[in-house]
Amino acid sequence: MDTILIKGGHIIDPENNINDEFDIIVDKGKIVKVEKDITPFAYSKVIDASNCIISPSFTDLHVHFRDPGQTYKEDIKTGSMAAVAGGFTTVVCMPNTIPAIDEPSLVRYVIEKGEEVGLCRVLPAAAVTKGRRGKQLTEMALLKDAGAVYFTDDGAPVVDSHIMRKAMEYAASLGTFVANHCEDLSLSKDGVAHEGEISAALGLPPLPPEAEETMVARDCILSIRTGAPVHICHISTKLAVEVVAWAKAMGANITAEVTPHHLYLCDDEWLDFHCKAKVSPPLREYEDIEAVRWGLSSKIIDYVATDHAPHAHHEKMLDHWNCPPGMIGLQFALPIVMELVRKDYITMKRAIEALSTEPAKKIGLKPPSIVEGEKAEFVIFNPNEPWEVTEDKILSKSKNTPLLGRKLRGKVKYTFFNGKIVYEDTSKEEFCYD
Ligand code: DOR
Ligand code: ZN
Ligand code: ZN
Repeated sequence: MDTILIKGGHIIDPENNINDEFDIIVDKGKIVKVEKDITPFAYSKVIDASNCIISPSFTDLHVHFRDPGQTYKEDIKTGSMAAVAGGFTTVVCMPNTIPAIDEPSLVRYVIEKGEEVGLCRVLPAAAVTKGRRGKQLTEMALLKDAGAVYFTDDGAPVVDSHIMRKAMEYAASLGTFVANHCEDLSLSKDGVAHEGEISAALGLPPLPPEAEETMVARDCILSIRTGAPVHICHISTKLAVEVVAWAKAMGANITAEVTPHHLYLCDDEWLDFHCKAKVSPPLREYEDIEAVRWGLSSKIIDYVATDHAPHAHHEKMLDHWNCPPGMIGLQFALPIVMELVRKDYITMKRAIEALSTEPAKKIGLKPPSIVEGEKAEFVIFNPNEPWEVTEDKILSKSKNTPLLGRKLRGKVKYTFFNGKIVYEDTSKEEFCYD
């Protein structure tokens, strides 16, 4: 398929100031024409993009592909399939694999396997400490040289403040940053659900929000004092957003991400006692959801990252204590963010920045551009098309999400990467959305 004509779509490319209806011709993988009303003739494929937005493909700086070591949950191939089905063509894999990504050879493994699959750009984050044990820094310069794009012990916080400070300074000297899973383990203890009315009513072990907030505050202070950047993973509480707002006002070099689930779901997901609601940090209260939505629109929160965390069915069926935290997210980011656009929390332009251009720039990538001469790397999506979340539509190996059976609106139709169509939606919905 050498030539593709895409007709009737509305291009939003924030970096190139494009926000208008244009047709596109892609020839041998390159965007050769972006013009109004191109006459369709003799093109090998015509895509009808009416009612669709065409935007630079998305970037997710926080996914767990479980490869190496736990490929029964996910692997780089199935993770890549889920990514492109969600409109993502760049993903950063977390190092909490088995073994942890703390050696240059493991960094290379992730990169090379991602290239072999070839559906999207798969980049690794490397561990801050050896084995993610929190005691001894990794060889950060070597890991960076091998291709690690940033450092994190995600799944666990960097508890020791001295180690965190040193890691932040080393990362800064290498032109990168540390991202922290902010959780004071002495406060979260064996907590399972957000401490509040729901955990009390259900008798679930409570996990107080200050477990997150105190460590966010610590990292902000370290950033202000050292001048080194720090990134807050999956921010989820109102007070944490306020702390980041304060630190930014102080001039701190700090960024934060929010997950689709913390933008959309609250702790009442626990009402049927099922551990599909278990995630770290936990689902919060409605007030917190409002705060992270406001944070995203006001740019206190810089971008969306899914924290796509696949776990096998038998693991999510365990009791509250033994069930691992996490839910998948790659295919739900777009519909959830589109819901915020429909409800006027954020603009469409900000939504696209938060899913694509902002995270790409954070790791020093040039965001994909929808202009003539560039390789095709964009996503065509219908922001309003309804679909029901069913197991067969989830391309991830694991299906752990409280959204199963729910109806969402916002559907990826095509994803282009490296000049090629890497995902095309072929599903048809039987129901009518009201
Ligand atoms: O819910 C979570 N799941 N939070 C984390 O920090 C780790 C992740 C995982 O690896 O499953
Ligand atoms: Zn985390
Ligand atoms: Zn994570």
